[in-house]
Amino acid sequence: MLVDSHCHLDFPDLRAEEAAVLSRARSAGVGRFLTISTRVRQNAALQAIAARHDDVFFTVGTHPHHAAEEADVATSEIVALSAQPKCVGIGEAGLDYHYDRAPRDVQARVFRTNIAAARATSLPLVIHAREADDDMIRILEEESGKGSFKAVLHCFTSTERLARVGLDLGFFVSFSGVVTFKKSDELRRIAKIVPADRLLVETDAPYLSPEPFRGKRNEPAFVVETAKVLAATRAMSLEQLSELTTANFYRLFEKAASISPPVQPLATPAE
Ligand code: NI
Repeated sequence: MLVDSHCHLDFPDLRAEEAAVLSRARSAGVGRFLTISTRVRQNAALQAIAARHDDVFFTVGTHPHHAAEEADVATSEIVALSAQPKCVGIGEAGLDYHYDRAPRDVQARVFRTNIAAARATSLPLVIHAREADDDMIRILEEESGKGSFKAVLHCFTSTERLARVGLDLGFFVSFSGVVTFKKSDELRRIAKIVPADRLLVETDAPYLSPEPFRGKRNEPAFVVETAKVLAATRAMSLEQLSELTTANFYRLFEKAASISPPVQPLATPAE
């Protein structure tokens, strides 16, 4: 069984065919899904999706793209929402200097608010980092100095330097479809140096479809393609890679284990 550790089932592209998307993924051997929050104040939509499906978990947090509109969200608000039974993580939060959709100082402030929630709850933080290595490293080191927290560097596309800082802080590293692209030799090299017990796999659907679906809308079933490339990169079988990343998912997102333990994909109920 594989876990899609990062998807956005609430985004319009996927929401419109939620049942079919999940059913195709289960048939492909994907047995658990973590649907990731981008806005604290739209968390109810994620809670509703998770309530409809035993194998879906969710998170709560503010994506850097939405930092300006949620600049006033307090740590306590995130902490309170994270107590919902199937909410197993904080984020995604971080810095995105590629799109710069919010002022950088606001992105940093909101990121620190999310880190504080992760620290307060002991739930893992899902980190979004794009073209912001220097500030990302500085904030992670400063904040870890105030007290450790668990985290995953999601959809990793940054430098080896950021990967090493994250690994030193005890973080996990998650790879998306980008690792399957022809030009991603450097990323595959980094995927080889991540310790086996820190590796995760994800789609980030509906974005970033892996080869051979590049350019099409992504969906959780396609995590299998990314897993195949990661397995080949690390000279393992797909079965070994699946077993490893699923065990890692449950070690990082511990709360998920008490709700829906790591067994085979749940059968899709007849519709
Ligand atoms: Ni995402």
